[in-house]
Amino acid sequence: MDLVIIGAGGFGREVLDVARDSAASSCSEDLRLRFRGFVDDGSPDLQRLERIGADYLGSSTELARLRGAAYVVGVGNPKVRAQLAARADEAGLIATTLVHPSATIGADVTLGPGTVIAAGVRITTNVRIGRHVHLNLNATVGHDAVLEDFATVNPLAAISGDVVLKQGATIGTTACVNQGLCVGSEAVVGAGAAVVKNVEPATTVVGVPARALGQR
Ligand SMILES: CC(C)(COP(=O)(O)OP(=O)(O)OC[C@H]1O[C@@H](n2cnc3c(N)ncnc32)[C@H](O)[C@@H]1OP(=O)(O)O)[C@@H](O)C(=O)NCCC(=O)NCCS
Repeated sequence: MDLVIIGAGGFGREVLDVARDSAASSCSEDLRLRFRGFVDDGSPDLQRLERIGADYLGSSTELARLRGAAYVVGVGNPKVRAQLAARADEAGLIATTLVHPSATIGADVTLGPGTVIAAGVRITTNVRIGRHVHLNLNATVGHDAVLEDFATVNPLAAISGDVVLKQGATIGTTACVNQGLCVGSEAVVGAGAAVVKNVEPATTVVGVPARALGQR
């Protein structure tokens, strides 16, 4: 099956690494995804794409031409990711899940379509991960956590046991969320923050302990 990555920016190109490494480690030829190229609505750097052996297939208006291909959205912003995923679904592409072979995943973990698990991620046990979730390099997710659709966890962040990340929540690089807490929908936890109480929806928190921007 062909694979299309929507978004040729920095993270989109990192997603290609995940796709290539997971294809290389797959023992079944039939299950391997064949990378077809990037779709991007901006002006991607074509020389960078050439240097990584990747084609540019055009903007998201071209998606109908790619009907039947598998796709993931390699865009960090959860709202933009949701819009692009809706466009791809409507055009008849099929969201797929990419897991880097160096990630470890415990028992009873579910991963929704469109979800990308980068190198070095650790997910323990009884975890629920929704659609189009990004778990970036070396992030950890503890037991019984629930990551709703379009949640984004940046490199080295630590999501403790029983945490809930509501739809579209973003956890910054190296931030941690203490056990049992809830980060509201579309909330943003700044890089390096320590979340010690629930985060309200659509709120940005920073610092140790994390406080809402504007309330510091
Ligand atoms: C928290 C964040 C979203 C705020 O971005 P923003 O709304 O553009 O805010 P600004 O950069 O204008 O900063 C506003 C204030 O918050 C402070 N601030 C910003 N980010 C902070 C952080 N992570 N920790 C502590 N303070 C922070 C700034 O110093 C500034 O303080 P001041 O008003 O006293 O000068 C952003 O800084 C952040 O941490 N994003 C996550 C980045 C990340 O994980 N990237 C991963 C890419 S793979």
